[in-house]
Amino acid sequence: MTFKVGLLGLGTVGSGTAKILLDPAQRHPLIKELEIAKIGVRSLDKPRDIGLPQDRFTTDLDAIVTDPDIDIIVEVIGGLEPARNLMLKAIEHGKHVVTANKAAIALYSDELFTAAEQAGVYILLEAAVGGGIPVIEPLKQSLCANRILGITGIINGTTNYILTRMKNEGGDFADILADAQALGYAEADPTADVDGGDAADKIAILASLAYGGRIDRKQVHSEGIRAIAAADIAYADSLGFVIKLLAFAQRCASLPGEPQKLELRVHPTLVPLDHPLASVNGVNNAIFIEGDPVGKVMFFGPGAGSGPTASAVVADVLNIAALLQVEQVQSKQLQLEPNRDRPRSLDPLLACRHQHDCDIAPINETVTRFYLRLISSDRPGTLGFVGTCFGNHGVSLESIVQTHRQDGSAEIAVVTHDVQEGKFRQAMAELTAEGDRIRDVAAVIRVL
Ligand code: HSE
Repeated sequence: MTFKVGLLGLGTVGSGTAKILLDPAQRHPLIKELEIAKIGVRSLDKPRDIGLPQDRFTTDLDAIVTDPDIDIIVEVIGGLEPARNLMLKAIEHGKHVVTANKAAIALYSDELFTAAEQAGVYILLEAAVGGGIPVIEPLKQSLCANRILGITGIINGTTNYILTRMKNEGGDFADILADAQALGYAEADPTADVDGGDAADKIAILASLAYGGRIDRKQVHSEGIRAIAAADIAYADSLGFVIKLLAFAQRCASLPGEPQKLELRVHPTLVPLDHPLASVNGVNNAIFIEGDPVGKVMFFGPGAGSGPTASAVVADVLNIAALLQVEQVQSKQLQLEPNRDRPRSLDPLLACRHQHDCDIAPINETVTRFYLRLISSDRPGTLGFVGTCFGNHGVSLESIVQTHRQDGSAEIAVVTHDVQEGKFRQAMAELTAEGDRIRDVAAVIRVL
């Protein structure tokens, strides 16, 4: 029983996938039953020495997703289009889809999963979040008995690499980004990574699985790491924190009778040094999940790269192949002719069937601690003024440190207690309304 795979894309993840499929020794025996029938590439001119004949390569990706002989499409071209269109066409033609495409899944999940449900096919996406780290299937299956209380993750390797180096070397963001680009750890266009969009796509996907509903990706609040200064990393260290780009999905505290909302946000965060996420360094990712009754579990590992991401892709392909194998055996027992068009009942733990839209809280309703660094005039009453502005809006201060600077100004680092973001912003508006005392708000970073 051979299952035919159509591979869309032979970049980093596509080549890693082909490498596993073409070298099945000592891996799961079902890999031997998988055949790469076609590979869709941008150009046939590039030499490809992966050990497959030239006639397996084509630039006609439409022909792959409509090929009646192909059972499973692996979409690893990334980006929104033509990936979305190709996946929809594959689904329409009765093919299961495996994808690493977090952006397309986060934005078009409703359309894609509705089409898949109607066609009776699976879309599996373990590789879309956390690269090689198993987290999608654990959320769908191993943790499905739990009420998920919250997910907190380092789910972007590029930013974690940059922040780790900034901390270790005391360097500035721009210099380390440039070096990371030269070394291949950051893309030439780093926008999606450093501005938080990539992590927002991923947390939208995790939240949808954890809370069993559709997420409007546009409502995920995201901030990146461009504004993080070496001074804040040093302050954080002296206060017992490390700065990480974290993604959060959790239920908001709701008032009796009010509908429960979800908090979905991505932003740089001061993480206490004794928190398990504080020691996740370099390009590694980690996803910390709290469930009732499991408690706290953390998934850690390589969040990107050819081998790790391909490991997740091939696991999904194998899951589908195993189901197809069972289907074929049953058809044989019932003496049914092989027929891809026969209605198929999907495994409810493997398929995504979300029927409602999650209600997402505006960022102003979320509650967190804040760290802020102010540059102020160094004269009597300034600290009192800061305390009064916060006090006027019910914001309680946890710590405050003031340092005199050589130019005669003062630097004030403040950490608040938990406060609703809207109230904190009102206090900040009052604090900065009179430009004379507070000369600059150098940093505002949330605290875990
Ligand atoms: N660009 C992503 C990261 C890897 O830096 O984590 C792919 O999801």
